[in-house]
Amino acid sequence: MEHATEQRGDERSSGRAKLEWVHDRMPLLARLRDRYRAEKPFSGQRLSMSLHLEAKTAALAELLADGGAVVSITSSNPLSAQDDVAAALSERGVEVHARRGLDDVEFDRLQHRVLDIEPTLILDDGGELLSRLVTSRKSLAGGVRGGAEETTTGVTRIRALARDGRLPFAMIAVNDAAMKHLFDNRYGTGQSTWEGIMRACNTTVAGAQVVVAGYGYCGRGVAERARGLGAQVIVTEVDAVRANEAVMDGNRVMPMRDAVRTADFVVTTTGCRDVVRAEHLRLMKDGVVLANAGHFNVEVDVAWLEAQAVRRRPGRTPDVVGYTLADGRTRWVVAEGRLVNLAAGDGHPVEIMDMTFALQALSLEGLAKAVRPPGLYPVDGDIDRWVAQARLEAIGVAIDHLNRAQMRYLNSWDIA
Ligand code: ADE
Repeated sequence: MEHATEQRGDERSSGRAKLEWVHDRMPLLARLRDRYRAEKPFSGQRLSMSLHLEAKTAALAELLADGGAVVSITSSNPLSAQDDVAAALSERGVEVHARRGLDDVEFDRLQHRVLDIEPTLILDDGGELLSRLVTSRKSLAGGVRGGAEETTTGVTRIRALARDGRLPFAMIAVNDAAMKHLFDNRYGTGQSTWEGIMRACNTTVAGAQVVVAGYGYCGRGVAERARGLGAQVIVTEVDAVRANEAVMDGNRVMPMRDAVRTADFVVTTTGCRDVVRAEHLRLMKDGVVLANAGHFNVEVDVAWLEAQAVRRRPGRTPDVVGYTLADGRTRWVVAEGRLVNLAAGDGHPVEIMDMTFALQALSLEGLAKAVRPPGLYPVDGDIDRWVAQARLEAIGVAIDHLNRAQMRYLNSWDIA
């Protein structure tokens, strides 16, 4: 008992240290905090959040609570909550329902728990809360003024709901803001995916054959960082334009069936399902490492490996497991094929999440101030520009400005 109490104390102090670390490195959130503490733009709002609960996310939750919201949070992946951060955050006026290592039933239960506050606003990552609000928790949807979505996967789902005429309130596609996907999806995913893989495996990427499935912004980032680490990169794609882009960026492009034969690492980033299937897993060489950087654990057929393996081998950390098939070759899977950068790492670097979360906070503030009809909305251009400018100021970078003649020139059709 005493031991458990001590452990909880250690956990809390580790979580507090992580929170302090990110506070010092999130200048945009710090600017918003000063204003939110004075203005309380969220007073009267109840906010349900489903977002990977690591330190940067905790800083966002605290900020929104500082702005007057009642906040209840859970994590948006069964492996992405950090228990020490959850413990520290629950001391700071936020209701926390999160723990690392949930099974699917418990994960679902906690998504429902955060909805029990009967939200007026939601903040979603991958559409977890929204999907429940349009199915099993429909009765709460009428009280929601709107929400914001973090990911490409979530925005894709919202678009499908809107197309079917079933989107019950306004949702803002934070993912699609320039200051989000150009940086978070590309540089964030690029760095944090390799951080997760390297932490789990501690093996060399230089000189390795890396297969990256998908060449959206996340895939571009993962491939670019792999090239930077000295890997030979092969990209697989289903879109001809993106495949051309991958070629011109210096990657080789080929179908998965050909790519996997010599791969040392296979990283999926597609957001689609069944990308690495039995027919590919059969061909892989001994020691290959498989990781998924897409939102859901549906890209690599880990269930097939589980069923076919003649031996299941523990890896050097609990985040990597080996499956030896009857051919004697072992395929190593990082983080059960779940979002590798959060399940085996700490998520994107702090400066990047500062920008993403500033977009989130400002988008929610807009919804708190003015109700919008149901629909999928882009982030306001002014918000994107504020984040871009504030980030430049934070890093001490100045830029030029157009003079009158230049503005006139750019706005006229008669360019003689
Ligand atoms: N940290 C919190 N949310 C995250 C996300 N969606 N991607 C990467 N890191 C994160």
